[in-house]
Amino acid sequence: MACDVTSASDLEAAVQATVDAFGGLDIMVNNAGIEVVKPLFHHTEEDFDRIMAINVKGTWLGMKAAMAALPQPGGVIVNMSSLAGLGGVPLFGAYSASKAGVVQLTRCAATELKPTGIRVNAVCPAFIATAMVDRLKPIVSEIVGVPFDDLAAMKQGRVGTPEEGSGDGGLPGLGRIFVLQRRRLRARRRSPGGDAVMAGLLEGKVAIVTGAGKGIGKAIAEAYAGEGATVVVSDIDEGLAKETASRISGASAIACDVRSEEQVKSLVDQTVAQHGGLQIMVPNAGIGRPVPLLGMDYEEWRAVTSVNLDGVFLCIRYGAPAIIASGGGAIVNICSITAQAGTPLIGHYAAAKAGVMSLTQTASVELRAQGVRVNAVLPGFIETEMVTSVKGDFERLLGFPDGQFDQVIAMKQGRYGTAEEVAKMAVFLASDRSSFSNGSPFVLDGGCRASLL
Ligand SMILES: NC(=O)c1ccc[n+]([C@@H]2O[C@H](COP(=O)([O-])OP(=O)(O)OC[C@H]3O[C@@H](n4cnc5c(N)ncnc54)[C@H](O)[C@@H]3O)[C@@H](O)[C@H]2O)c1
Repeated sequence: MACDVTSASDLEAAVQATVDAFGGLDIMVNNAGIEVVKPLFHHTEEDFDRIMAINVKGTWLGMKAAMAALPQPGGVIVNMSSLAGLGGVPLFGAYSASKAGVVQLTRCAATELKPTGIRVNAVCPAFIATAMVDRLKPIVSEIVGVPFDDLAAMKQGRVGTPEEGSGDGGLPGLGRIFVLQRRRLRARRRSPGGDAVMAGLLEGKVAIVTGAGKGIGKAIAEAYAGEGATVVVSDIDEGLAKETASRISGASAIACDVRSEEQVKSLVDQTVAQHGGLQIMVPNAGIGRPVPLLGMDYEEWRAVTSVNLDGVFLCIRYGAPAIIASGGGAIVNICSITAQAGTPLIGHYAAAKAGVMSLTQTASVELRAQGVRVNAVLPGFIETEMVTSVKGDFERLLGFPDGQFDQVIAMKQGRYGTAEEVAKMAVFLASDRSSFSNGSPFVLDGGCRASLL
Protein backbone atom coordinates (compact mmCIF):
# COMPACT_ATOMS: atom_id res chain seq x y z
CA MET A 1 0.00 0.00 0.00
CA ALA A 2 1.11 3.56 -0.55
CA CYS A 3 2.54 5.17 2.57
CA ASP A 4 4.43 8.42 3.06
CA VAL A 5 6.68 7.90 6.07
CA THR A 6 6.63 11.58 6.93
CA SER A 7 2.93 11.20 7.74
CA ALA A 8 1.96 9.69 11.10
CA SER A 9 -1.55 8.96 9.85
CA ASP A 10 -0.26 7.11 6.75
CA LEU A 11 1.95 4.92 8.94
CA GLU A 12 -0.82 4.24 11.45
CA ALA A 13 -3.10 3.27 8.57
CA ALA A 14 -0.42 0.94 7.15
CA VAL A 15 0.01 -0.79 10.49
CA GLN A 16 -3.76 -1.11 10.95
CA ALA A 17 -4.21 -2.49 7.41
CA THR A 18 -1.46 -5.06 8.10
CA VAL A 19 -3.11 -6.15 11.33
CA ASP A 20 -6.51 -6.36 9.60
CA ALA A 21 -5.12 -8.41 6.71
CA PHE A 22 -2.77 -10.76 8.57
CA GLY A 23 -3.95 -10.71 12.16
CA GLY A 24 -0.89 -8.96 13.56
CA LEU A 25 2.49 -7.36 12.96
CA ASP A 26 5.73 -8.94 14.17
CA ILE A 27 8.46 -7.05 12.32
CA MET A 28 8.68 -3.40 11.33
CA VAL A 29 11.44 -2.43 8.86
CA ASN A 30 11.91 1.33 8.61
CA ASN A 31 13.75 1.37 5.30
CA ALA A 32 12.49 4.41 3.37
CA GLY A 33 15.22 6.99 2.82
CA ILE A 34 16.58 9.58 0.42
CA GLU A 35 19.97 11.15 -0.23
CA VAL A 36 21.28 14.45 -1.55
CA VAL A 37 24.82 14.45 -2.95
CA LYS A 38 26.30 17.94 -2.80
CA PRO A 39 29.06 19.72 -0.92
CA LEU A 40 27.67 20.46 2.54
CA PHE A 41 27.27 24.18 2.08
CA HIS A 42 25.56 23.75 -1.27
CA HIS A 43 22.72 21.87 0.48
CA THR A 44 19.58 24.00 0.51
CA GLU A 45 17.35 24.31 3.56
CA GLU A 46 14.77 22.36 1.60
CA ASP A 47 17.28 19.51 0.96
CA PHE A 48 18.13 19.40 4.64
CA ASP A 49 14.55 19.45 5.91
CA ARG A 50 13.41 16.80 3.46
CA ILE A 51 16.23 14.38 4.33
CA MET A 52 15.59 14.81 8.05
CA ALA A 53 11.83 14.42 7.57
CA ILE A 54 12.08 11.14 5.63
CA ASN A 55 15.20 9.54 7.10
CA VAL A 56 14.93 10.53 10.76
CA LYS A 57 11.35 11.59 11.48
CA GLY A 58 10.08 8.80 9.21
CA THR A 59 12.03 6.22 11.23
CA TRP A 60 10.70 7.62 14.50
CA LEU A 61 7.12 7.70 13.21
CA GLY A 62 7.47 4.16 11.84
CA MET A 63 8.60 2.86 15.22
CA LYS A 64 5.85 4.77 16.98
CA ALA A 65 3.10 3.43 14.72
CA ALA A 66 4.41 -0.14 14.95
CA MET A 67 4.51 -0.04 18.75
CA ALA A 68 0.72 -0.24 18.85
CA ALA A 69 0.77 -3.66 17.20
CA LEU A 70 4.12 -5.35 17.89
CA PRO A 71 3.99 -8.30 20.30
CA GLN A 72 5.61 -7.87 23.71
CA PRO A 73 7.87 -9.75 23.98
CA GLY A 74 8.88 -10.84 20.50
CA GLY A 75 8.40 -7.75 18.34
CA VAL A 76 11.30 -6.69 16.17
CA ILE A 77 12.16 -3.30 14.69
CA VAL A 78 14.91 -3.02 12.05
CA ASN A 79 15.95 0.50 11.09
CA MET A 80 17.91 1.12 7.91
CA SER A 81 20.86 3.37 8.68
CA SER A 82 24.08 3.49 6.66
CA LEU A 83 27.82 3.34 7.05
CA ALA A 84 27.49 7.11 6.63
CA GLY A 85 25.71 7.13 9.98
CA LEU A 86 28.85 5.81 11.67
CA GLY A 87 31.34 8.24 10.10
CA GLY A 88 31.01 11.50 8.19
CA VAL A 89 31.02 11.12 4.40
CA PRO A 90 31.95 14.19 2.34
CA LEU A 91 29.23 15.21 -0.14
CA PHE A 92 26.66 13.35 1.97
CA GLY A 93 26.54 15.83 4.88
CA ALA A 94 22.81 15.92 5.61
CA TYR A 95 22.45 12.24 4.74
CA SER A 96 25.29 11.29 7.13
CA ALA A 97 23.74 13.41 9.88
CA SER A 98 20.33 11.84 9.30
CA LYS A 99 21.69 8.29 9.38
CA ALA A 100 23.67 9.05 12.55
CA GLY A 101 20.30 10.21 13.90
CA VAL A 102 18.80 6.84 12.95
CA VAL A 103 21.57 5.04 14.87
CA GLN A 104 20.96 7.12 18.00
CA LEU A 105 17.17 6.77 17.70
CA THR A 106 17.72 3.02 17.45
CA ARG A 107 19.88 3.01 20.58
CA CYS A 108 17.36 5.06 22.56
CA ALA A 109 14.42 2.93 21.42
CA ALA A 110 16.32 -0.30 22.14
CA THR A 111 17.07 0.87 25.67
CA GLU A 112 13.60 2.21 26.44
CA LEU A 113 11.90 -0.87 24.99
CA LYS A 114 14.16 -3.40 26.74
CA PRO A 115 11.52 -4.14 29.41
CA THR A 116 8.88 -4.84 26.73
CA GLY A 117 10.94 -7.52 24.97
CA ILE A 118 10.79 -5.65 21.65
CA ARG A 119 14.26 -5.65 20.07
CA VAL A 120 15.46 -2.70 17.98
CA ASN A 121 18.57 -2.75 15.79
CA ALA A 122 19.98 -0.80 12.85
CA VAL A 123 21.63 -2.07 9.66
CA CYS A 124 24.52 0.09 8.43
CA PRO A 125 25.43 -0.95 4.88
CA ALA A 126 28.18 0.62 2.78
CA PHE A 127 27.45 1.41 -0.91
CA ILE A 128 24.90 -1.07 -2.24
CA ALA A 129 23.94 -1.31 -5.92
CA THR A 130 20.42 0.11 -5.83
CA ALA A 131 18.87 2.96 -7.80
CA MET A 132 20.06 5.32 -5.05
CA VAL A 133 23.70 4.51 -5.84
CA ASP A 134 23.08 4.57 -9.61
CA ARG A 135 21.81 8.13 -9.21
CA LEU A 136 24.73 9.34 -7.17
CA LYS A 137 27.57 7.62 -9.12
CA PRO A 138 28.00 10.29 -11.85
CA ILE A 139 27.66 13.12 -9.31
CA VAL A 140 30.33 11.70 -6.98
CA SER A 141 32.63 10.82 -9.91
CA GLU A 142 32.38 14.36 -11.23
CA ILE A 143 32.93 16.13 -7.92
CA VAL A 144 35.75 13.85 -6.72
CA GLY A 145 37.34 13.39 -10.14
CA VAL A 146 37.70 9.61 -9.71
CA PRO A 147 35.30 7.04 -11.19
CA PHE A 148 32.84 5.97 -8.47
CA ASP A 149 33.44 2.26 -9.03
CA ASP A 150 37.21 2.75 -8.53
CA LEU A 151 36.53 4.60 -5.27
CA ALA A 152 34.17 1.87 -4.08
CA ALA A 153 36.64 -0.87 -5.05
CA MET A 154 39.37 0.83 -3.08
CA LYS A 155 37.28 1.28 0.05
CA GLN A 156 34.89 -1.69 0.02
CA GLY A 157 36.41 -4.13 -2.47
CA ARG A 158 33.24 -3.79 -4.54
CA VAL A 159 29.74 -2.35 -4.41
CA GLY A 160 27.48 -4.67 -2.44
CA THR A 161 24.23 -6.17 -3.70
CA PRO A 162 20.84 -5.39 -2.18
CA GLU A 163 20.52 -9.03 -1.09
CA GLU A 164 23.71 -8.58 0.93
CA GLY A 165 22.52 -5.20 2.30
CA SER A 166 20.01 -7.49 3.71
CA GLY A 167 17.24 -7.07 1.48
CA ASP A 168 17.28 -7.37 -2.54
CA GLY A 169 16.84 -4.34 -4.73
CA GLY A 170 13.69 -3.99 -6.75
CA LEU A 171 11.49 -1.10 -6.57
CA PRO A 172 14.44 -0.63 -6.74
CA GLY A 173 15.80 -0.65 -3.27
CA LEU A 174 16.54 -2.60 -0.17
CA GLY A 175 12.96 -2.57 1.07
CA ARG A 176 11.70 -4.75 -1.75
CA ILE A 177 14.42 -7.28 -1.02
CA PHE A 178 13.31 -7.70 2.56
CA VAL A 179 9.88 -8.63 1.26
CA LEU A 180 11.18 -10.94 -1.47
CA GLN A 181 13.57 -12.74 0.86
CA ARG A 182 10.83 -13.39 3.35
CA ARG A 183 8.65 -14.88 0.61
CA ARG A 184 11.54 -17.04 -0.68
CA LEU A 185 12.30 -18.25 2.82
CA ARG A 186 8.69 -19.24 3.37
CA ALA A 187 8.62 -21.06 0.03
CA ARG A 188 11.89 -22.88 0.77
CA ARG A 189 10.68 -23.96 4.17
CA ARG A 190 7.74 -25.79 2.63
CA SER A 191 8.32 -28.97 0.68
CA PRO A 192 5.28 -30.43 -1.14
CA GLY A 193 4.61 -32.53 1.96
CA GLY A 194 4.99 -29.52 4.19
CA ASP A 195 8.31 -30.70 5.69
CA ALA A 196 11.29 -28.45 6.27
CA VAL A 197 13.64 -28.61 3.28
CA MET A 198 16.20 -25.94 4.05
CA ALA A 199 19.77 -26.80 3.12
CA GLY A 200 22.43 -26.07 5.74
CA LEU A 201 24.09 -22.68 5.46
CA LEU A 202 27.56 -24.22 5.81
CA GLU A 203 27.11 -27.35 3.69
CA GLY A 204 30.44 -28.67 2.38
CA LYS A 205 32.61 -26.33 4.48
CA VAL A 206 35.39 -27.38 6.84
CA ALA A 207 35.65 -25.36 10.07
CA ILE A 208 38.10 -25.17 12.95
CA VAL A 209 36.81 -23.84 16.28
CA THR A 210 39.46 -23.30 18.97
CA GLY A 211 38.59 -23.52 22.66
CA ALA A 212 35.59 -25.60 21.60
CA GLY A 213 35.62 -28.12 24.44
CA LYS A 214 32.95 -26.16 26.30
CA GLY A 215 31.09 -22.86 26.48
CA ILE A 216 30.71 -20.64 23.45
CA GLY A 217 33.15 -22.63 21.29
CA LYS A 218 31.20 -25.82 21.90
CA ALA A 219 27.92 -24.10 20.96
CA ILE A 220 29.53 -22.78 17.76
CA ALA A 221 30.87 -26.23 16.85
CA GLU A 222 27.38 -27.71 17.37
CA ALA A 223 25.68 -24.96 15.36
CA TYR A 224 28.18 -25.27 12.48
CA ALA A 225 27.68 -29.03 12.32
CA GLY A 226 23.92 -28.43 12.39
CA GLU A 227 24.34 -26.25 9.29
CA GLY A 228 26.23 -28.98 7.45
CA ALA A 229 29.89 -28.11 8.18
CA THR A 230 32.60 -30.62 9.02
CA VAL A 231 33.91 -29.33 12.33
CA VAL A 232 37.29 -29.74 13.99
CA VAL A 233 36.76 -29.30 17.73
CA SER A 234 40.03 -28.00 19.11
CA ASP A 235 40.92 -27.25 22.72
CA ILE A 236 43.96 -27.13 24.99
CA ASP A 237 42.17 -29.83 27.00
CA GLU A 238 42.34 -32.89 24.75
CA GLY A 239 39.85 -34.91 26.82
CA LEU A 240 37.27 -32.14 26.63
CA ALA A 241 37.82 -31.71 22.88
CA LYS A 242 37.32 -35.45 22.31
CA GLU A 243 34.23 -35.62 24.50
CA THR A 244 32.62 -32.65 22.74
CA ALA A 245 33.54 -33.94 19.27
CA SER A 246 32.09 -37.35 20.11
CA ARG A 247 28.67 -35.73 20.59
CA ILE A 248 28.74 -33.82 17.29
CA SER A 249 27.97 -35.60 14.07
CA GLY A 250 30.98 -35.80 11.74
CA ALA A 251 33.24 -33.81 14.06
CA SER A 252 36.82 -34.67 14.96
CA ALA A 253 39.02 -33.47 17.82
CA ILE A 254 42.52 -32.00 17.66
CA ALA A 255 44.24 -30.74 20.81
CA CYS A 256 45.90 -27.34 20.46
CA ASP A 257 47.20 -24.68 22.79
CA VAL A 258 46.67 -21.49 20.80
CA ARG A 259 49.69 -19.87 22.49
CA SER A 260 51.98 -22.27 20.61
CA GLU A 261 52.90 -21.35 17.04
CA GLU A 262 53.91 -24.94 16.34
CA GLN A 263 50.60 -26.35 17.63
CA VAL A 264 48.43 -23.87 15.72
CA LYS A 265 50.34 -24.59 12.51
CA SER A 266 49.94 -28.31 13.11
CA LEU A 267 46.19 -27.88 13.85
CA VAL A 268 45.71 -26.29 10.44
CA ASP A 269 47.96 -28.82 8.65
CA GLN A 270 46.18 -31.79 10.25
CA THR A 271 42.76 -30.35 9.39
CA VAL A 272 43.68 -29.87 5.74
CA ALA A 273 45.25 -33.35 5.58
CA GLN A 274 42.17 -34.99 7.17
CA HIS A 275 39.42 -33.02 5.44
CA GLY A 276 40.98 -31.76 2.21
CA GLY A 277 40.79 -28.04 2.97
CA LEU A 278 39.67 -25.30 5.32
CA GLN A 279 37.00 -22.66 4.74
CA ILE A 280 36.20 -21.35 8.23
CA MET A 281 38.46 -20.50 11.17
CA VAL A 282 36.99 -19.46 14.52
CA PRO A 283 39.64 -18.25 16.97
CA ASN A 284 37.48 -18.59 20.08
CA ALA A 285 39.83 -19.83 22.81
CA GLY A 286 40.07 -17.30 25.58
CA ILE A 287 40.60 -16.92 29.28
CA GLY A 288 39.75 -14.16 31.73
CA ARG A 289 39.89 -13.52 35.44
CA PRO A 290 39.48 -10.37 37.51
CA VAL A 291 42.70 -8.74 38.73
CA PRO A 292 43.05 -5.00 39.46
CA LEU A 293 45.67 -3.31 37.26
CA LEU A 294 47.82 -2.31 40.22
CA GLY A 295 47.81 -5.84 41.58
CA MET A 296 48.63 -7.36 38.20
CA ASP A 297 52.11 -8.71 37.58
CA TYR A 298 53.54 -9.09 34.10
CA GLU A 299 53.08 -12.86 34.19
CA GLU A 300 49.33 -12.42 34.70
CA TRP A 301 49.20 -9.83 31.89
CA ARG A 302 50.96 -12.21 29.50
CA ALA A 303 48.92 -15.22 30.61
CA VAL A 304 45.76 -13.53 29.39
CA THR A 305 47.10 -11.58 26.40
CA SER A 306 49.03 -14.57 25.05
CA VAL A 307 45.84 -16.67 24.75
CA ASN A 308 43.38 -13.91 23.85
CA LEU A 309 45.48 -11.84 21.44
CA ASP A 310 48.59 -13.82 20.39
CA GLY A 311 46.38 -16.89 19.92
CA VAL A 312 44.08 -15.03 17.51
CA PHE A 313 47.08 -13.72 15.55
CA LEU A 314 48.45 -17.26 15.20
CA CYS A 315 45.07 -18.60 14.05
CA ILE A 316 44.85 -15.90 11.38
CA ARG A 317 48.52 -16.29 10.44
CA TYR A 318 48.22 -20.03 9.77
CA GLY A 319 44.48 -20.35 9.09
CA ALA A 320 44.24 -17.71 6.37
CA PRO A 321 46.74 -19.29 3.93
CA ALA A 322 44.86 -22.60 4.18
CA ILE A 323 41.54 -20.84 3.55
CA ILE A 324 43.01 -19.03 0.55
CA ALA A 325 44.39 -22.32 -0.80
CA SER A 326 40.90 -23.83 -0.36
CA GLY A 327 39.24 -21.15 -2.49
CA GLY A 328 38.30 -18.58 0.17
CA GLY A 329 36.12 -18.43 3.25
CA ALA A 330 35.69 -16.67 6.55
CA ILE A 331 37.46 -16.00 9.81
CA VAL A 332 35.14 -15.30 12.74
CA ASN A 333 37.03 -13.88 15.71
CA ILE A 334 35.31 -14.25 19.06
CA CYS A 335 36.01 -10.88 20.59
CA SER A 336 34.02 -9.06 23.33
CA ILE A 337 32.25 -5.77 24.05
CA THR A 338 35.16 -5.06 26.36
CA ALA A 339 37.01 -4.20 23.12
CA GLN A 340 34.86 -1.07 22.99
CA ALA A 341 34.85 0.04 26.62
CA GLY A 342 37.20 -0.15 29.57
CA THR A 343 36.11 -2.77 32.06
CA PRO A 344 37.33 -2.67 35.67
CA LEU A 345 39.38 -5.66 36.87
CA ILE A 346 39.91 -7.17 33.43
CA GLY A 347 42.29 -4.62 31.92
CA HIS A 348 44.44 -7.31 30.33
CA TYR A 349 41.40 -9.09 28.87
CA ALA A 350 39.84 -5.88 27.53
CA ALA A 351 43.13 -4.67 26.00
CA ALA A 352 43.61 -8.04 24.29
CA LYS A 353 40.06 -7.94 22.90
CA ALA A 354 40.59 -4.37 21.60
CA GLY A 355 43.68 -5.80 19.89
CA VAL A 356 41.57 -8.58 18.39
CA MET A 357 39.17 -5.99 16.93
CA SER A 358 42.09 -4.08 15.42
CA LEU A 359 43.57 -7.29 13.99
CA THR A 360 40.15 -8.13 12.56
CA GLN A 361 40.05 -4.84 10.67
CA THR A 362 43.61 -5.08 9.35
CA ALA A 363 43.20 -8.71 8.31
CA SER A 364 39.89 -7.95 6.59
CA VAL A 365 41.57 -5.45 4.28
CA GLU A 366 44.77 -7.44 3.69
CA LEU A 367 42.86 -10.64 2.90
CA ARG A 368 39.87 -9.19 1.02
CA ALA A 369 41.33 -9.61 -2.46
CA GLN A 370 42.11 -13.26 -1.67
CA GLY A 371 38.54 -14.14 -0.80
CA VAL A 372 38.79 -14.24 2.98
CA ARG A 373 36.33 -12.21 5.04
CA VAL A 374 37.28 -11.45 8.64
CA ASN A 375 34.70 -10.29 11.17
CA ALA A 376 34.39 -10.23 14.94
CA VAL A 377 31.58 -11.18 17.31
CA LEU A 378 31.46 -8.93 20.39
CA PRO A 379 29.36 -10.64 23.06
CA GLY A 380 28.41 -9.02 26.34
CA PHE A 381 28.27 -11.23 29.44
CA ILE A 382 27.35 -14.76 28.40
CA GLU A 383 26.46 -17.41 30.95
CA THR A 384 29.42 -19.77 30.63
CA GLU A 385 31.94 -21.03 33.14
CA MET A 386 34.23 -18.12 32.26
CA VAL A 387 31.71 -15.79 33.91
CA THR A 388 29.94 -17.97 36.48
CA SER A 389 33.26 -19.04 38.03
CA VAL A 390 34.39 -15.45 38.74
CA LYS A 391 31.17 -13.69 39.79
CA GLY A 392 32.18 -13.97 43.47
CA ASP A 393 35.64 -12.51 42.73
CA PHE A 394 34.07 -9.52 40.94
CA GLU A 395 31.72 -8.95 43.89
CA ARG A 396 34.56 -9.14 46.43
CA LEU A 397 36.93 -6.90 44.46
CA LEU A 398 34.22 -4.34 43.63
CA GLY A 399 32.85 -4.35 47.18
CA PHE A 400 29.41 -5.58 46.05
CA PRO A 401 27.18 -7.64 48.35
CA ASP A 402 26.69 -11.31 47.38
CA GLY A 403 24.41 -11.69 44.35
CA GLN A 404 24.76 -8.10 43.15
CA PHE A 405 26.78 -9.05 40.07
CA ASP A 406 23.69 -10.69 38.58
CA GLN A 407 21.68 -7.54 39.29
CA VAL A 408 24.27 -5.37 37.53
CA ILE A 409 24.12 -7.65 34.49
CA ALA A 410 20.30 -7.54 34.53
CA MET A 411 20.42 -3.75 34.66
CA LYS A 412 23.00 -3.46 31.87
CA GLN A 413 21.97 -6.26 29.49
CA GLY A 414 18.49 -7.32 30.64
CA ARG A 415 19.88 -10.82 31.26
CA TYR A 416 22.90 -13.00 30.53
CA GLY A 417 23.24 -14.03 26.90
CA THR A 418 23.52 -17.70 26.00
CA ALA A 419 26.32 -19.48 24.13
CA GLU A 420 23.71 -20.56 21.56
CA GLU A 421 22.87 -16.92 20.80
CA VAL A 422 26.55 -16.20 20.10
CA ALA A 423 26.68 -19.31 17.92
CA LYS A 424 23.82 -18.04 15.73
CA MET A 425 25.81 -14.89 14.95
CA ALA A 426 28.92 -17.00 14.29
CA VAL A 427 26.91 -19.05 11.77
CA PHE A 428 25.77 -15.89 10.00
CA LEU A 429 29.33 -14.54 9.77
CA ALA A 430 30.73 -17.82 8.45
CA SER A 431 28.00 -18.18 5.84
CA ASP A 432 27.26 -16.45 2.54
CA ARG A 433 24.44 -14.63 4.32
CA SER A 434 27.10 -12.14 5.44
CA SER A 435 28.99 -12.04 2.11
CA PHE A 436 29.39 -8.24 2.16
CA SER A 437 30.30 -8.00 5.86
CA ASN A 438 34.02 -7.59 6.39
CA GLY A 439 36.16 -6.14 9.18
CA SER A 440 33.13 -5.38 11.31
CA PRO A 441 32.22 -5.74 14.98
CA PHE A 442 28.94 -7.63 15.51
CA VAL A 443 27.74 -6.76 19.00
CA LEU A 444 25.50 -9.13 20.97
CA ASP A 445 24.87 -7.55 24.34
CA GLY A 446 21.15 -7.19 24.99
CA GLY A 447 21.47 -3.41 24.52
CA CYS A 448 24.24 -2.81 27.08
CA ARG A 449 26.40 -0.62 24.81
CA ALA A 450 23.40 1.20 23.33
CA SER A 451 22.86 3.28 26.42
CA LEU A 452 24.81 5.77 28.50
CA LEU A 453 22.37 5.28 31.36
N1 LIG B 1 31.43 -15.78 28.52
C1 LIG B 1 31.38 -14.50 28.23
O1 LIG B 1 30.68 -13.71 28.88
C2 LIG B 1 32.14 -13.98 27.05
C3 LIG B 1 31.86 -12.68 26.64
C4 LIG B 1 32.55 -12.14 25.56
C5 LIG B 1 33.50 -12.90 24.92
N2 LIG B 1 33.77 -14.16 25.34
C6 LIG B 1 34.82 -14.89 24.65
O2 LIG B 1 34.31 -16.10 24.15
C7 LIG B 1 35.35 -17.07 24.07
C8 LIG B 1 34.90 -18.36 24.76
O3 LIG B 1 34.59 -18.05 26.11
P1 LIG B 1 33.68 -18.98 27.02
O4 LIG B 1 32.81 -18.10 27.81
O5 LIG B 1 33.10 -20.07 26.23
O6 LIG B 1 34.81 -19.54 28.02
P2 LIG B 1 34.96 -21.00 28.68
O7 LIG B 1 35.92 -20.79 29.79
O8 LIG B 1 33.65 -21.58 28.97
O9 LIG B 1 35.65 -21.84 27.51
C9 LIG B 1 36.92 -21.50 27.04
C10 LIG B 1 37.55 -22.70 26.36
O10 LIG B 1 38.83 -22.28 25.89
C11 LIG B 1 39.78 -23.30 26.20
N3 LIG B 1 41.14 -22.73 26.32
C12 LIG B 1 41.64 -21.97 27.31
N4 LIG B 1 42.92 -21.67 27.06
C13 LIG B 1 43.23 -22.21 25.87
C14 LIG B 1 44.41 -22.25 25.06
N5 LIG B 1 45.53 -21.68 25.47
N6 LIG B 1 44.35 -22.88 23.89
C15 LIG B 1 43.21 -23.50 23.48
N7 LIG B 1 42.10 -23.54 24.20
C16 LIG B 1 42.09 -22.89 25.38
C17 LIG B 1 39.29 -23.87 27.52
O11 LIG B 1 39.82 -25.17 27.75
C18 LIG B 1 37.79 -23.86 27.32
O12 LIG B 1 37.33 -25.06 26.73
C19 LIG B 1 36.56 -16.42 24.70
O13 LIG B 1 37.40 -15.87 23.73
C20 LIG B 1 35.96 -15.31 25.53
O14 LIG B 1 36.87 -14.28 25.75
C21 LIG B 1 33.11 -14.71 26.41
